[in-house]
Amino acid sequence: MSHLPQLHGFSVNQNEWFVEDVRLSDIAQKYGTPCYVYSHKALTQAFMAYEKACLRPDGSRRARVHFAMKSNSNLAILDVFAKLGAGFDLVSGGELERVIAAGGNPHLCVFSGVGKSVAEIRQALEVGVKCFNVESIPELDRINDIAGKLNKVAPISLRVNPDVDAKTHPYISTGLKDNKFGVAYESVLSTYETAKSMGHCKIIGIDCHIGSQILDIQPFLDALDRILLLIKELSQRGIHIQHLDLGGGLGIDYEGETTPNITEFANTLLNHIETKGFGYLDVIFEPGRSLVGNAGVLLTEVEYLKPTPAKNFCIVNAAMNDLMRPAMYEAFHAIVPAQNKPIPSETYDVVGPVCESGDWLGKDRQLAIEQGDLLLILSAGAYGSSMSSNYNTRPKIPEIMVKGQQIFLIRERETVQDILALERKLPDLI
Ligand code: LLP
Repeated sequence: MSHLPQLHGFSVNQNEWFVEDVRLSDIAQKYGTPCYVYSHKALTQAFMAYEKACLRPDGSRRARVHFAMKSNSNLAILDVFAKLGAGFDLVSGGELERVIAAGGNPHLCVFSGVGKSVAEIRQALEVGVKCFNVESIPELDRINDIAGKLNKVAPISLRVNPDVDAKTHPYISTGLKDNKFGVAYESVLSTYETAKSMGHCKIIGIDCHIGSQILDIQPFLDALDRILLLIKELSQRGIHIQHLDLGGGLGIDYEGETTPNITEFANTLLNHIETKGFGYLDVIFEPGRSLVGNAGVLLTEVEYLKPTPAKNFCIVNAAMNDLMRPAMYEAFHAIVPAQNKPIPSETYDVVGPVCESGDWLGKDRQLAIEQGDLLLILSAGAYGSSMSSNYNTRPKIPEIMVKGQQIFLIRERETVQDILALERKLPDLI
């Protein structure tokens, strides 16, 4: 049997899975399945683990968390983090609108992404984001031009591609020189010189993000050292960097992986920066997965058990459109029954109803289950609901947050009418 991840907020009591003080089976009964369920406590604990490293004993701040909201952008989740003092890392005008709708502070937002549109840049300048993380000279030109027209000055950082190997899945590795991200290491200094000469850009920081689900701290330290060299070189050229954005990427435990502890991870990087004489910099972390990944599960129900000569299939009512990670990255998510039953177990491929062989959620899982049972797909809080789609005209599923004994519906179940609402048939005459 594979290992279960270490979870906060979720536990087993008398053979039943609970989220905080609430039975998962009660949630299924009240809201139906499939649905996402989050623990408020788990979200808060993960955030406070970063915060512990970010604050000095005298209460002053040496770093701030900017939640990478692409990992889970539900308004309630943003609200929880905003109230705890988080900023946000966003990648679209839509995400910026979400921050504002959730009551977050746009001045605490960094705007990342390789393809910022004219409309998005204008919107970000109008609300006054903290910084644009710029990835190319054409983007710098565009930002400078729009800022000029609006009579504003755009605060900018360059996202550096440090060319380090984060040793993670190729689709989520971003800091190698053949990835599309960032400014090539060799071109960073000259690109800063170009930015310096622009009348409507103000250089305030430097940024990098090397990938996601990284389980070792060394690639972060390697990238950091390369960035510190640049900061020194820049200061010799009269370009003074105020903040250092280290991106996100810390991995989580999906199946018993040993992951760096959040506080130790953040402390190691911050101490390294201080030891090397750069303690004057404001540091930004952009974690996504390590804040929300293990704070959420996908709750689903067994529709059919289908034995075949080759395999046993457990067909559930959640599918790749609800949780894309297994189909897209062959990602592993632990799967457990919501209630342990004293019946024999079998090996199953857990699959969804979508018409694709890639529609699987877990392979070769040992499960003691019957038709109608509830299953929990663990570690589904990050890149679950935020990557979901309507494929096969499947309405998006509800999201629920539990705090102690309280249950909050934080996203209603979509209806087919909602999906069809924006579509139009051709007029009869053509
Ligand atoms: N900052 C930037 C600029 C990013 O591109 C990302 C993630 C993060 C921060 C947050 O990284 P995290 O702390 O979550 O590792 N859909 C994939 C992950 C894609 C990550 C994209 N960028 C998955 O499901 O594994």
